[in-house]
Amino acid sequence: MKLDKASPIGVFDSGVGGLSILKALQAQMPHEQFVYVADSSHAPYGERDADFVQQRAGHLLQFLREQHQVKALVVACNTATALAIHNMRSAYPELPLFGVEPAIKPAASLSHTQRVGVMATAGTLKSEKFQSLLNGLQTDVTFVLQACEGLADAIEQQWQHADNKAVSALCKKYAETMGAFGTQAGQMDVLVLGCTHYPFAMNELHALVGPDVQIVETGVPVARHTHKVLVDLGLLQTSGVGGVQLFATGDVQNLQHAAQMWLGERQEPWHVATLT
Ligand code: DGL
Repeated sequence: MKLDKASPIGVFDSGVGGLSILKALQAQMPHEQFVYVADSSHAPYGERDADFVQQRAGHLLQFLREQHQVKALVVACNTATALAIHNMRSAYPELPLFGVEPAIKPAASLSHTQRVGVMATAGTLKSEKFQSLLNGLQTDVTFVLQACEGLADAIEQQWQHADNKAVSALCKKYAETMGAFGTQAGQMDVLVLGCTHYPFAMNELHALVGPDVQIVETGVPVARHTHKVLVDLGLLQTSGVGGVQLFATGDVQNLQHAAQMWLGERQEPWHVATLT
């Protein structure tokens, strides 16, 4: 397989969530071209079975590699990473492939109360990959795991509504179910966002857990790691103007709207297209 420095980096998610990772990737690697795919007509992944997610991930990987000759792929979705990254690695063993997983290890070292909350999809939390990550941690920290059914979907839909009441209501419901947040003994002083959609609800979550609770997400560490590997492989673009092409299998306008809000105006002009 020929990997060309001038080729773009592929990024995909079930929907808009991976834009939270793309933003960090662009900040870390401003000269790169990115091709982002939102598989929105098949979202949410977190409530689907492993076979389905593997089949979608395989299809998107093939699109990104065959149509865009991507030189690397960032799976900007915890659920697809947990359920499908092994299959993707076997399909293209020479392609640098980066996944995202809930940042429970850094969270454990940040916690003083030894109690950490983790919000993620049911698919991620039930996966063998997450269970072995959890079991492999040598720590006395207690993790409070919360599958947030419907939250990624509500975030996905929020650009179509004037308000985001559904997002706020679900955040409240799940934060309350998890228990007390704060810096006192017995309270959770760190919250891990184990789904790339959830940073879009950062304001709501901060308001619920309070200002002293640290909220941990994965964009910056994944971007740093991707940058390092590309440098080591001699594949990093160090000059020229970066950019992004956006593709959606569902509502393209929804993706465009979310991207404008999240990535900012400097992205213009957009190249947005429907992928079948
Ligand atoms: N954003 C994805 C994740 O990180 C998937 C959410 C979903 O489609 O359920 O898990």
